[in-house]
Amino acid sequence: MCGIIGYIGGKQAAPVLIDGLKRMEYRGYDSAGIALINDDGKVDLRKRKGRVSVMASEIEADRFPAHMGIGHTRWATHGGVTDANAHPHTSSCGRFIMVHNGIIENYENMRSFLAGKGYTFSSETDSEALVNLISYHYDERTVDGAADRFMESVRKALLHVEGTYGIAVISPLYPNEIIVARKGSPLLIGIGNGERLVASDVSGFAGRAQNVIYLEDGQLACVKKDFCDIITNGKQEVECVIKEIDWELETAELGSYRHFMQKEIFEQRKAIENAIRGRISDDMSTAILSGLNMSANELRQIDRILFCACGTAWHACLVAEYLIEKYARIPVEVEYASEFRYSNPPLDKNTLVFVISQSGETIDTLEALREAKRKGFKTLAITNVVGSTIARESDGGLYQYSGKEVGVASTKAFTSQIVICLLIALYFGRMRDLSFSDGREIVEAIKSLPDLIDETLKQAPKVEQIAKKYAKYPDFLFLGRLEEYPIALEGALKLKEISYIHAEGYPAAEMKHGPIALVCPECPTVIFANSGEIFHKVISNAKEIGARNGPVIMITDSPESIDEGLADDIIAIPKSHSSVRTVLSTIPIQMLAYYIAVARGCDVDKPRNLAKSVTVE
Ligand code: F6R
Repeated sequence: MCGIIGYIGGKQAAPVLIDGLKRMEYRGYDSAGIALINDDGKVDLRKRKGRVSVMASEIEADRFPAHMGIGHTRWATHGGVTDANAHPHTSSCGRFIMVHNGIIENYENMRSFLAGKGYTFSSETDSEALVNLISYHYDERTVDGAADRFMESVRKALLHVEGTYGIAVISPLYPNEIIVARKGSPLLIGIGNGERLVASDVSGFAGRAQNVIYLEDGQLACVKKDFCDIITNGKQEVECVIKEIDWELETAELGSYRHFMQKEIFEQRKAIENAIRGRISDDMSTAILSGLNMSANELRQIDRILFCACGTAWHACLVAEYLIEKYARIPVEVEYASEFRYSNPPLDKNTLVFVISQSGETIDTLEALREAKRKGFKTLAITNVVGSTIARESDGGLYQYSGKEVGVASTKAFTSQIVICLLIALYFGRMRDLSFSDGREIVEAIKSLPDLIDETLKQAPKVEQIAKKYAKYPDFLFLGRLEEYPIALEGALKLKEISYIHAEGYPAAEMKHGPIALVCPECPTVIFANSGEIFHKVISNAKEIGARNGPVIMITDSPESIDEGLADDIIAIPKSHSSVRTVLSTIPIQMLAYYIAVARGCDVDKPRNLAKSVTVE
């Protein structure tokens, strides 16, 4: 989603801003721009629809000397993808220039108020209303005092905003400062040596800052090259909390891989090893989850668990439901984070609320967390991004340590989330009815996972062949039962998002109640048929598809038990304990989606319309 960058210091700002924007490209965007203020106060502004490189080619040609500026990658919300709608936006007087992430819900009222005062607009965006409102407060002198008149104008304007924002504002009248503020959209201040950066994502700092200040909701900062002042929107001074950036966690290079998604699929062994490291008890029968910040006594009081998330992370919650109900016998409910906030479901007082978010910045998930906190529930988070807003605002939680995930389609983060949910199931289970030996069996299964993942990844050449065979098909069905039902949903989502093929996931037996109408020679079905009590039921479902001439791609740990002719293609996964099997079942559907997208010539890491971190509702 939109990315913000800003620089003030001794270096030439344009290359720093462009580099920062390129580092944040993975977030997803459709246009880019930068604005620079030269030492003599002259403003240079370039913005173009399309890739950062399109806009950057013009900048490089002009070689701007400015030492401060702001930049933006836009993911369109209000108004189409045009040069005019790209950020930065300038107030009609030309003295204030702003980049904005988020949505200003009352922008139409703002625009008509400002139009009545003679302000003009050159874009269809909500953001342009805000930069003009800043100008209004400046001109109308609704702000007192001269020294911080710029920051005060921003603060006053923000008091009128309904919605969310992360903003960076500059003005040729104040060439030595950048004003930033946030409510709902992330905003970070990077501290370098005699220079400051601002960004919506630590990767925008591109190794240039060693320390970071995370601005909190309702805070504004005046950033200068060697210090910054932070206040609340109620004008209270705020002490700067400076954190060190762990660049090892924040860096990801493509290496010999063609795409980040491919790399991240193949990194799953390491990601899972990181997720379990230090989290298994010495007697190998339970998990150690000190990050939950809850005593054994508190945890024993829990009667119900609610999970909230979006997209792929929501699928991880569904797997968690199966695992926790099976091993810990605690009832689990799963809600879309976006629905939870407004549906206001009744919750028992002994409910524990978990949110799952790879980025830790998804606004729907963050608001679900805040809603649960507001109601007084203990809220825990599973996130991958250290220091993210969700990680900071939850009462406790577990970091995934999957390493940076750059590909828009989540892969290694998903399987790590599943493993962490299994650790939670084990932990709660061992506090209740799960025996020592059952606990040890699960621990052994978890410890065997890295090798089993490697074995599963060896299927890549076969999956690639299958992908080439089906790459032109217009529709896919994904079917799985029990804990493989969420993996069927995930398979359909992965395929949709990166190859733009229509796909649907269902519980295998549910297929007869409607989706079977789709089955035909042009609609392949990917079906999970793994050993266990429902193996034969799933085989019957596969036969029903074959009888209607639907191609069957079967993912199974028991290829030896599949009758000749039952499946058109078989992807074998290793046999494993049922507690960890979803991890292995996931890998073939990730590879299938990846190779199909490659065969179709799609931009795998930057699929159309999608954003890595969804910071608008
Ligand atoms: C799909 C995908 C999205 C995210 C969703 C939540 O591949 O990546 O569906 O899972 O936007 O994102 P996080 O986990 O960052 O909250």
